[in-house]
Amino acid sequence: MYAFLSDLHRRPEPFSTYSTDILWTDAHLAQEMLAHHLSQDTPLASRTLNVIEMTVEWIEKTVGISGRRLCDLGCGPGLYATRFAERGAYVKGIDFSANSIAYAEAHAKLPQSSRGTVTYRVANYLTDPLPGEQDVVTLIYCDYCPLSPAQRALLLAKIRQMLAPAGRFVLDVVSDAGFANVKNNSRFGRRYMNGFWSAEDYFAFHHTFRYDADRLALDRFTIVEQDRTWEVFNWLQYFTPETLAAELRAAGFKVLETAPGFDKLQDTFVVVATPKEGERLQSC
Ligand SMILES: C[S@@+](CC[C@H](N)C(=O)[O-])C[C@H]1O[C@@H](n2cnc3c(N)ncnc32)[C@H](O)[C@@H]1O
Repeated sequence: MYAFLSDLHRRPEPFSTYSTDILWTDAHLAQEMLAHHLSQDTPLASRTLNVIEMTVEWIEKTVGISGRRLCDLGCGPGLYATRFAERGAYVKGIDFSANSIAYAEAHAKLPQSSRGTVTYRVANYLTDPLPGEQDVVTLIYCDYCPLSPAQRALLLAKIRQMLAPAGRFVLDVVSDAGFANVKNNSRFGRRYMNGFWSAEDYFAFHHTFRYDADRLALDRFTIVEQDRTWEVFNWLQYFTPETLAAELRAAGFKVLETAPGFDKLQDTFVVVATPKEGERLQSC
């Protein structure tokens, strides 16, 4: 028991474990996350509908949506994808949560007035082939931030391949300003987070670790059930416009636009980037 508790208190190496997928693909957790996506009471999985509307409107105004081929990576239950299609985009929504995609497909009926279309696919955007020749690729709700530097580089390379010349990549990230609020912390409870982690009885340890030099935070959840003990590591990389632009540049993108996020609950910013050679092609 002493060794177990000591291990829980030891800060792991940055990005030493990737387990974000469990949150979205475990049968019980996927149901919980879908409920959070759709709830207007919690911003845990998706933002509230008024923030989503404002974000879609901003993307429409900034990069254009109507008549565009648009791929929404990590589309969840399609809250953005349907709105993009209603505004005339030909949308492909991609997510590795079969549960969320099933919900999105069941609710994909667009109003008759919509000019666009929407289709969905269950796929992992880090490991599966992705569609090419897209005018716009979106990655919304800070989904870039739980990824390790190697995963981020891999994803950016894949997104560059997806984009048509002069295509636009739109993503949002948590801003460095929010890192000041992260506190090292330890919590413990029976059925912690109101039964979120399992339908069965369980105890959970929740440790938050700061990594000051890396502007990185980890929420480490250790779930102890009668027959098994398992963990979820939630990493969150904080960015400044400069650190994000440097990563995008290293992957062959150029930043065209940076703007504050619309979510008042979280300090975020939005970036629009384009492949460097796309810019050249466009200006030739
Ligand atoms: C925070 S939610 C945001 C969902 C949606 N963009 C929204 O804001 O409503 C993250 C989504 O990304 C999906 N996701 C995370 N990693 C993924 C991966 N490697 N491949 C595909 N989908 C992924 C999750 O299943 C989840 O639906």
